[in-house]
Amino acid sequence: MQSGGQVLSTGELAIGGVSTSALAQAYGTPLIVYDEAVIRKQISDYKEAFQAVRAEFRLAYACKAFCSVYMCKLAQDEGLWLDVVSGGELYTAIQSGFDTRHLLMHGNNKSMEELKLAISSQIGLIVIDNFYEIELLGQLLEEAQANMDVLIRVSPGVDVHTHDFISTGQQDSKFGFDLYSGQVEEAVTAIRCQPRLRLMGLHAHIGSQIFDAEGFRVAAERLADLSKKLVREYGVVTHILNLGGGLGIRYTAEDTPMPLETLVEEVVLAARAAYEHDGLSLPLIMLEPGRSIVAEAGTTLYRVGSRKEIPGLRTYVAVDGGMTDNPRLALYGAKYEAVIANRLDEPRSEVVSVAGKACESGDMLIWDAPLQKAQPGDLLAVFCTGAYNYAMASNYNRITRPAVVFVRDGAARLVLRRESYEDLLRLEATL
Ligand code: LLP
Repeated sequence: MQSGGQVLSTGELAIGGVSTSALAQAYGTPLIVYDEAVIRKQISDYKEAFQAVRAEFRLAYACKAFCSVYMCKLAQDEGLWLDVVSGGELYTAIQSGFDTRHLLMHGNNKSMEELKLAISSQIGLIVIDNFYEIELLGQLLEEAQANMDVLIRVSPGVDVHTHDFISTGQQDSKFGFDLYSGQVEEAVTAIRCQPRLRLMGLHAHIGSQIFDAEGFRVAAERLADLSKKLVREYGVVTHILNLGGGLGIRYTAEDTPMPLETLVEEVVLAARAAYEHDGLSLPLIMLEPGRSIVAEAGTTLYRVGSRKEIPGLRTYVAVDGGMTDNPRLALYGAKYEAVIANRLDEPRSEVVSVAGKACESGDMLIWDAPLQKAQPGDLLAVFCTGAYNYAMASNYNRITRPAVVFVRDGAARLVLRRESYEDLLRLEATL
């Protein structure tokens, strides 16, 4: 059983000590249920892994994976930094009361408004992505008479074996300064011409849903070489080495990610070896995981509805959500595991394909899922839906977005209420 789920004597799935049918009854479906203990455990595993290798570290939760006021508060409670990538995420963090000095901002095209908000709220770090941003940020800081710590985002040319759309570290990328054409050195010079920018270090994010340490090792080695060059030729010391996010999780039995502790250990040891080889001491290591913090903690509950049997071909079982709350199969061919949450004590006696309710053939959640025999009204639980699901949810077909609850010690807390039809009209300017 994934997501820390338990089976009750009634044959029902429970999450965080609360039965899924009670959750569905109280909050309706589709419903995204987070097991808060799983999130906190992931965070403490990261911290312990860093402590075990005695590295100075900083963990930032990449809130693009799932961003809400409550999640920002949880991250703050755990002593994390927060990685935001837009004015909207920044605004959410500010509204949650997050200590803005522990915010770091990413983005390959940060707008003037976004940068102004970052400056006025005195965030901790901006990861500079391009030359335009250096100029713009320099000007805005001058106008505000403020200073800003920055990292340079380097595109280190590491091609990790992951889906093309979510692989950002390879050389042909819209993100960051190219390592091989002298762009990074030019960026250092440009930043040094801006008296209000303080260059604190380097950043590289090599991709997402990565299963081993190899790509991180290569990136760390390349950034160590670069750090050496920056000290020697520019007198610039790399105080912070941010290796991005990307640790993969186990969506299905086919996925075999390296355990988090092993990955952190291998990454830190590789980075330390690379820096020491270059005669430098290891900078503070920063990671900004998103998926590995929240994905496994999330389970989506759907109500089973119609069924279509095509003799000799396939059986479709449709649920009351789909690509509007989880577009990851449609976008990336992502795979998930599921159960009929109120019949866990029954054998998985059939193989069906789980369809969503949107007017689009590609609106599928799982192809060929071995499941307990589903009847209309049953509850389907899809596991590992905590990252990039609600975050990428849409109102396609004017389907309303689900509610989100967090469960902990047998109690549930509504974190995001279900969208209503009235909510769908809230932007209409001509009512
Ligand atoms: N840092 C940077 C600069 C990133 O671009 C990302 C993810 C992260 C950190 C967090 O990566 P994580 O630990 O979550 O892998 N929508 C896709 C994932 C896109 C990831 C984008 N960047 C999906 O559903 O798989």
